[in-house]
Order: sequence, then structure tokens, then C-alpha cells
Amino acid sequence: MTATQNKRRKLVVGNWKMHGDLSSNQRLLADIVKGLSEFNRADYVICPPTPYLFQARELLGDSKIAWGGQNVNQFEKGAFTGAVAAHMLTDLGCTYVLLGHSERRVLFHETNLTAAARFDASIKAGLTPILCVGETLAEHDAGLTEVIVASQMDAVMATLSDENFSVAMQVNMVFAYEPVWAVGTGKTATPEQAQAVHEFIRNRIARRNSEAADHVRIIYGGSIKANNAKKLFAMPDVDGGLIGGASLSAEEFIAICKAAN
Ligand code: PGA
Repeated sequence: MTATQNKRRKLVVGNWKMHGDLSSNQRLLADIVKGLSEFNRADYVICPPTPYLFQARELLGDSKIAWGGQNVNQFEKGAFTGAVAAHMLTDLGCTYVLLGHSERRVLFHETNLTAAARFDASIKAGLTPILCVGETLAEHDAGLTEVIVASQMDAVMATLSDENFSVAMQVNMVFAYEPVWAVGTGKTATPEQAQAVHEFIRNRIARRNSEAADHVRIIYGGSIKANNAKKLFAMPDVDGGLIGGASLSAEEFIAICKAAN
């Protein structure tokens, strides 16, 4: 793993969820831009709520920090009240988009099928999709982690033609392992637990294309904090993190980004 690991730059993504307002965002973004100015060895992304993507473009435009959407709709346009199309995200300079987050699956009834369709729409628009997969606590306790993660991944992989798989590689598709029992709970997977599932995910991708599997970044999410990031990021198949709660504090987020640098 060491040789391939070096090829993969770490990636840290801040998922603000439904938090923030113009003035607090301005402070947070300014602090993050300043705090990350010396970090050049990893990639950094902020996903604010949709209305603030304009603000992200304004305040991050001259920095090395990218910004992205927290979700996207699979359709290009139409009567879909409240939905956002992939080209609308690229219009606002987004380069990344989160897909299939457990909160979308659990609270908004999104499915593997919608995740697959949205994955397709995202790569076609040139966005880098970050597909979130992960098991619930009940599934974890029943020993079903691999079954669930495999089904979530396969739903997307199966719909990808070889041509679209190449497109997905060109836009550097990302997977995020987010055990639902660790998201927002303060309970983090141990580095060993995360590594085992990340390796499983990478092997799953390798069944389709082994070269791609070496390059794809698989990030971990679920209660990452400044004090546990370093050990998680040190695992050979953990290529960074998806940070919720801790991305709302400049100090915490910068410390996590430092651990990846
Ligand atoms: P958390 O959220 O860091 O607050 O656990 C992670 C996520 O939902 O992406």
C-alpha cells in the first residue's frame, strides 16, 4: 500500500450541514483561509448550505480551498421545487458535491437509486462526487457492515458504463465511509475499524478496475476531531476526512487540516 498511498493526496472536506449565516460564515471562511495558507500537501473543500455558495465563491475564490454542494438533483431542469441541478453548482464554481449522505438517506428518504442517478449527473457536469456509504448501528451490531457498504457501492458502480467509469476517474470520484453510528454522535470508528472498511471499499473498486482502485480517495467521516484525526489519517487506506461538527470551528478544522497536510 505504501507506494500507492503516496500517489493519493489527502482530502479534507468540511460539511457545514444546515449551519451558518452571512456574518458568521464570513469570519469562519476568513479564519480558515488564513489558517490553511501554509498547507500545500493536501486538498481542502468546504460545503456550505446552498444559499451561501455565492459567498464561498467570493471568499474562497482566490484561495486554494475548493467549495462544493451538499447534494444535487439528478435532473437538469424542470418542476422540482427545492432541487438544485449539477450545472447550477458548477455555475457557482463548485468542483465537489456530497452524495448519499446518511442524513439524506435517513431523513429525506433518498435511496441507492437516487444516489446512483445523482452520481451520474454529477460526473457528467464535471463535478467530483463524494459518495457517502456506511452502516447503521443495528447493521453494525449485526455484523452487516460489509454487506451494506457493498450494496451501497454496487448500486452506483453497476449503473456506470465503462465510459462513465472513465469519466468518474477523470473527475477523481471520492468515496466517504461514514458509519451512521459515528456521524454527529461523538463516537468515532477506531483507526483499525476505519482501515478495515476502507480496504474493503478499495478492493470492491478493484474488482471493477484495479488501477482505478489505487487512485481513488476514500475518506472517513464520523466525529473526526482535532484529537483523533492524525491517527485516522495515518491508516494506509484512509485518504482524509469528511468533517461535520468540527468544521464549524476554525480552530478545530484547521487542526484537522494540519493533520492531513
Ligand atoms: P460529524 O459529521 O463530523 O459531525 O460526525 C460528519 C458528516 O456528517 O459528514
